[in-house]
Amino acid sequence: MSNIGSYDERIKDFSWALSEKELEYRDGDVINIGWYCSDRICQQGNGDKPALIWEGLGGVEKRYTFNDVRLASNTIGHFLRGLGISAEDRVCLFMDKIPELYLGFLGVLKIGAIAQPLFSAFGDESLYVRLENARTKAIITQRKHVGKVRKIVEKMPWLEHIIIVDHDGKKELKERETVFSLENADPVEQFEIHPTTAESPSVLHYTSGTTGQPKGVKHVHYSLISQYLTARWVLDLQDGDIYWCTADPGWVTGTSYGIIGPWSLGITQCVLDTGFSPDSWYKFIQKNRVTVWYSAPTAIRSLMKAGSEKVKEYDLSSLRHLASVGEPLNAEAVIWSEKVFGRPFLDTYWQTETGSMMLTNFPGMKVKPGSMGKPFPGIIATVVDVDTFEPIAEPGKVGLIAFKPGWPAMMRTYWNNEETYNSKFINGWYLPGDRAHIDNEGYFWFTGRDDDVINTGGHLVSPFEVESALLEHEAVAESAVVAKPDEVNMEVVKAFVTLKPGFEPGPDLELKIMNFIRKKLSPLAMPQEIEYVDNLPKTRSGKIMRRLLHAREWGEEIGDTSTLEDDE
Ligand code: WT7
Repeated sequence: MSNIGSYDERIKDFSWALSEKELEYRDGDVINIGWYCSDRICQQGNGDKPALIWEGLGGVEKRYTFNDVRLASNTIGHFLRGLGISAEDRVCLFMDKIPELYLGFLGVLKIGAIAQPLFSAFGDESLYVRLENARTKAIITQRKHVGKVRKIVEKMPWLEHIIIVDHDGKKELKERETVFSLENADPVEQFEIHPTTAESPSVLHYTSGTTGQPKGVKHVHYSLISQYLTARWVLDLQDGDIYWCTADPGWVTGTSYGIIGPWSLGITQCVLDTGFSPDSWYKFIQKNRVTVWYSAPTAIRSLMKAGSEKVKEYDLSSLRHLASVGEPLNAEAVIWSEKVFGRPFLDTYWQTETGSMMLTNFPGMKVKPGSMGKPFPGIIATVVDVDTFEPIAEPGKVGLIAFKPGWPAMMRTYWNNEETYNSKFINGWYLPGDRAHIDNEGYFWFTGRDDDVINTGGHLVSPFEVESALLEHEAVAESAVVAKPDEVNMEVVKAFVTLKPGFEPGPDLELKIMNFIRKKLSPLAMPQEIEYVDNLPKTRSGKIMRRLLHAREWGEEIGDTSTLEDDE
């Protein structure tokens, strides 16, 4: 029997009060995610239950019980407090998927500070703009990443502490650098958790838009109410499960469902901190007897490419339930997974801003391959007309996805950017910026984004950020960045550039420019192709028309170019 039971029964009279009740939370109480994910589980008598099974390079393994998680997060919290970090200060977590990332996340929350996780593959420029925007007070990182912080430290007088968790004592520490070692620190048994309440800020995740710098999505401790229940009903997590969320906590899936959801339910989860390969993934599932697996379409498509025969080399019979998020999950991938794993990947749709799952497929529900499923109970969702913003009654007609605000995990604002936050609401609807249609049975079908943001392998990349970085390269005069179709990643970054006089177009320069972006921004943002052009299509007032270049890449009708010539 699945946790959700019958969807139709659940949506009748649904109220988030149900989740509050299960979590024994009452309006006005203290609510701290760090406490819920460790101390509470221990109080329920599950302190000895494994919380984290971690595997790094070369098969090195570390295991932590819920009591270990409680102690480690206390210890990190205590250390941070000792440095003078207090409630609402921003603390960046800039690490690979090492245990300190997961434990540090809870430690930051326990002192009431705001956790700002950033993807460890970010280059110095990507890192800088996000630390600058948040005026981050401390960053917790590893030796291998500290060079990127050093490169920009002079520009960040507000950054008081650079904490290195794996310092070997060999290299000298530089200005503002401190060492913290979980293994050598005295475990803190008694810890005073900061009395955060529902609206106390918890997590700041950065997400990319079409224009402007990345936006800091501000979440609060009350988000737990949604994350707990969606993890319980959609991921169907049950007491004996071994859960694997493949996402990195640098992104929202990796925190909402790679830390908060499972641990608030007292579920054992495992983490693989090595690169992707079909063999290493299947081996990991086999070895840990993974039962619930939450992953992403790009990974599933890569597994598909590796073939069905490969699956047979492993014993994956432990798998009970599979779910996916981040980008469109094509029907073929759903059908294939059902064939080879004996159960389909169930699609879920949500975003950094929504904090928890919005449109979902759950166990027991009829799966329509290619569809995102139906609104989670308590979520009022529709599609609205792109011009009038009125709900569309007609099944099959494409419009903008729209949600009635009010679920617990919804972002509270964009950090220092109330104006953009407000622009996301029209006629009382929150518009996530995607297009879809609803069929006659209430299933939602994704048709595309409503902006120029590139979704590469489930990661959003802002064309604006890449264009700006390209302009910093000595050879580039002008640039335009669009998505290009890709079999596995669905979209990859493509750049069109015009060169400054004296620079020779050619493969050497292409490689140099690619590397320049990879180091400055990240491997995700690196253009997979650079096309040299003599000039870029522009509107009369000189704005570059990405849409035209995009249409050309996707072999779409360009339509009436006279309207494109006008500024919008
Ligand atoms: C955007 C959000 C929260 C998960 C990680 C991504 C796209 C997300 C789906 C899906 C089609 C999807 C949307 C959305 N997206 N899930 N199931 N089908 N598209 O979070 O980085 O904030 O990206 O990813 O375009 O707006 P994110």
